[in-house]
Amino acid sequence: MSTVSLRPATPDDVAQMLQIEKMSYPEPWNSTQFLEEMNKSYSRVLVLTDDETDEFVAGYIVYWVQVEGVSLHNVAVDVKWRGLGFAKKMLHAMINEAVRDEIPKVILEVRVSNTGAIHLYQQLGFIKTHERQKFYKDGEAALVMELKTSDLSTTIQ
Ligand SMILES: CC(C)(COP(=O)(O)OP(=O)(O)OC[C@H]1O[C@@H](n2cnc3c(N)ncnc32)[C@H](O)[C@@H]1OP(=O)(O)O)[C@@H](O)C(=O)NCCC(=O)NCCS
Repeated sequence: MSTVSLRPATPDDVAQMLQIEKMSYPEPWNSTQFLEEMNKSYSRVLVLTDDETDEFVAGYIVYWVQVEGVSLHNVAVDVKWRGLGFAKKMLHAMINEAVRDEIPKVILEVRVSNTGAIHLYQQLGFIKTHERQKFYKDGEAALVMELKTSDLSTTIQ
C-alpha cells in the first residue's frame, strides 16, 4: 500500500469493511449496521484507501457529529496495516471536525481489556471518565473516555 487517504464510504466498500470487522471484534457489526450508518445525516462513515486505486480499504471509522458532542462508534484497521499510524490519522480527522465545528467534546467507549486502543486514545489526549459495567454482550465493562476540544489549541495533522 502506497499512501492512503480518507473518503466517505460507499455500499461498495462494505464487503472489505466486513472482512476487517470480523478480524477486529468479538461482536462484529453486520452489513446492515454499516449501511444504516451511511444513511444517518449525523453519522460519518469514512474509509482509508490507497491513493493508487482508491479501492483497497485499509481501515475505517464511524462517528456521530451532534451539537453536544462527537461520539466514536467504530474504528478498525486491517491487521496487515496496523502499527503504521492509520488509526491515528482517522481519529485526527474526527477530532479536527469537532474542533472546526466548535463541538465541546469527543467521547468514546472501549473495552477495559483493549489496552492497545486505550493507549492510543490517551496519546491523543483522551481522559478516562468512568466505567460502564457489563456494557458489552459478553459481560465486559466499557471504559468511557473523553476529550474536551477546548483543551486543544489548534487542529492536529
Ligand atoms: C486499535 C487499532 C484501531 C489501532 O490501529 P493502528 O492503525 O495499528 O494504530 P496506529 O498505528 O495509528 O497507532 C497509533 C498509536 O497507538 C498505540 N497503539 C496502537 N495499537 C497498539 C497496541 N496494540 N498496543 C499498544 N499501543 C498501541 C501506539 O502507541 C501507536 O503510537 P506510536 O506507535 O506512535 O507509539 C487497531 O489495533 C484495531 O483495528 N484493533 C481492533 C479494533 C479495535 O480494537 N478498535 C478500537 C475499539 S474502541
